[in-house]
Amino acid sequence: MKIAEKKLQYKIYCNIEELPDSYKALVLRAREETQKSYAPYSQFRVGAALLLENGAVFGGNNQENAAYPSGLCAERTALFYAQSQHPDVAVNVIAISAFFRNNLTQETIKPCGACCQVLSEVEKRSKNIMTVILDGQDQIEVIEGVNNLLPFRFSGEELKNI
Ligand code: THU
Repeated sequence: MKIAEKKLQYKIYCNIEELPDSYKALVLRAREETQKSYAPYSQFRVGAALLLENGAVFGGNNQENAAYPSGLCAERTALFYAQSQHPDVAVNVIAISAFFRNNLTQETIKPCGACCQVLSEVEKRSKNIMTVILDGQDQIEVIEGVNNLLPFRFSGEELKNI
């Protein structure tokens, strides 16, 4: 038996003012996106903003449904929309913010497992490293590469052996 280790690396910024300008603009857009979410069941409004390789910015937010599993997270709403419109353009950066009962969350909001999986494939598809920015009142985390978010990920390579 051996014990292996995987390390995650990310940057921590104390607040939005410390961020480079392009990241700051994207976080502000993610915050703005939360206000258009449809979250009557959880009151948890999530917003995502994407910066594409060609400079385009796309936003999205969570869309809930009375049949709960039919809803969709903000990240996937934004990613699928952007990829449907620009299938050949890399998503370079995604910023994610959340408001609970009208307040920006204290802690950073982390994408759920399903969103991490989709982030992973969007990154792989573009052959580019994607930067993931997690927004929160206490701090903002900047993760360079989805590998630093989901180190054990299903890449789909295994499907080629079936
Ligand atoms: N949600 C997101 O939109 N993104 C996440 O990363 C986590 C959760 C949404 C799903 C649901 O509408 C609400 O937040 C509460 O789980």
